[in-house]
Amino acid sequence: GFSWKLEDHPKLEKGKVIALIVLDGWGEANPDQYNCIHVAETPVMDSLKTGAPDRWRLVRAHGKAVGLPTEDDMGNSEVGHNALGAGRIYAQGAKLVDLALASGKIYDGEGFNYIKESFETGTLHLIGLLSDGGVHSRLDQLQLLMKGASERGAKRIRVHILTDGRDVLDGSSVGFVETLENDLSKLRETGVDAQIASGGGRMYVTMDRYENDWSVVKRGWDAQVLGEAPYKFKSALDAVKTLRQDPKANDQYLPPFVIVGEDGKAVGPIVDGDAVVTVNFRADRMTMLAKALEYENFDKFDRVRFPKIRYAGMLEYDGELKLPKRYLVSPPEIERTSGEYLTHNGVRTFACSETVKFGHVTFFWNGNRSGYFNAEMEEYVEIPSDSGITFNEQPKMKALEIAEKARDAILSRKFHQVRVNLPNSDMVGHTGDIKATVVACKAADEAVKMILDAIEQVGGIYVVTADHGNAEDMVKRNKKGGPLLDKDGNIQILTSHTLQPVPIAIGGPGLAPGVRFRKDVPEGGLANVAATVMNLHGFLAPSDYETTLIEVADN
Ligand code: 3PG
Ligand code: CO
Repeated sequence: GFSWKLEDHPKLEKGKVIALIVLDGWGEANPDQYNCIHVAETPVMDSLKTGAPDRWRLVRAHGKAVGLPTEDDMGNSEVGHNALGAGRIYAQGAKLVDLALASGKIYDGEGFNYIKESFETGTLHLIGLLSDGGVHSRLDQLQLLMKGASERGAKRIRVHILTDGRDVLDGSSVGFVETLENDLSKLRETGVDAQIASGGGRMYVTMDRYENDWSVVKRGWDAQVLGEAPYKFKSALDAVKTLRQDPKANDQYLPPFVIVGEDGKAVGPIVDGDAVVTVNFRADRMTMLAKALEYENFDKFDRVRFPKIRYAGMLEYDGELKLPKRYLVSPPEIERTSGEYLTHNGVRTFACSETVKFGHVTFFWNGNRSGYFNAEMEEYVEIPSDSGITFNEQPKMKALEIAEKARDAILSRKFHQVRVNLPNSDMVGHTGDIKATVVACKAADEAVKMILDAIEQVGGIYVVTADHGNAEDMVKRNKKGGPLLDKDGNIQILTSHTLQPVPIAIGGPGLAPGVRFRKDVPEGGLANVAATVMNLHGFLAPSDYETTLIEVADN
């Protein structure tokens, strides 16, 4: 029968203290002026790369290596941390939704049949990120869903858009709105009353995560549900174009707006009897809205009105909380993660990050599961993030505080694994501010130093890696690899993640002398890290895990 017991590694000892550091958004790319990691002073990460050639390598962090539909899909933190923690590659939300739409199974499921009961008399509201980034949502999936729903009886559709500029180029919102408007007008020709009803920039409206700032969700609620916003427009295209004219505005931070009719009234507030689907497949930035839409008792902000609706998520966003109750596509069933195995095998774990990435190194790491596997064996610490700022204003973020917590956890000798996520290169990279991103990378490197120093003191082992690329490439590239210019001759800043591989380095005084990276796993990816870490804890990984990256040479 099944057992949680892991076999002993034949050569590696148990009981070492291992620091497991995930640099968020830290990829490897050609060294040029748009590679902020190259430009920044990063002596620690540089020394890992040049110090021990068989203890540093690159791993794949995008596309199929992390369960995304195609090799053109950049990596992201959800799929990256899932792969790192689970040690296997699961078809991810993006892919599962594609399959369900292509086969039509999405329309046979319980979730769709539930919302469908509102089609006759109510409005179908679709809320989500309008983008083809493929990280949280994809426009083509929204298009298919609108078409499928209207063919199955939806007579009145309202779309509540969140503009992106974070997983895609800033300014691309205009084109996405044009495309959507065009689709909606085609739907209207078939007799469906279909319109955009509200909008706003994803970082300012609705898509907060890990309860960092509920006011973001409230701004969205007011526009989407109550039909109230500081800006009113007759057309969404007008709204986006006009609001972008403010030099401080960009797609990520557009203020909330509602679309009004000739009578000046909002065209699509959410009311009793309506159906609502949040069309993002990724959980972290939909969970808060899902709670507001679903929970009878709710005290995070005054909802003013709590409409009786039929609500479904594109996916289930939290399996523990069963949130939301109804969803169109089942999420990947990630089970038997490395974290769960390790707690069953006596490994004590400490995990820490600041709010904006806390769920990454816990919830995503543990296969989209909240809470502890065993509270006696684990301690998770969240350092509150600054809220209400863009992180180029504070590029050092809480790196130092995270490193101090990790240092203390290591020196306490209470834990065998001390796991952190250092958010700087990702969060600041997403702002597109190159100077600030350079500062961010330096701060992350200094945090790594503090943690490695502690490992040195206790005779431990370190594993330093990343979840996907971001700061190593800050411009859109032409075919020759140079910066791509727009029609006015300006470089186009890349705020998004990349397709680049990420480094992994191992070392520390506790690492047995013969341990080195194998040469026979050239295609290794993030999913190979879990078995590697299990080995370093003195165990063999379960046989269905992706293979380890290390071997122990006899010397
Ligand atoms: C975000 O949600 O901030 C971006 O879309 C993706 O960033 P992450 O995958 O690094 O969290
Ligand atoms: Co990111």
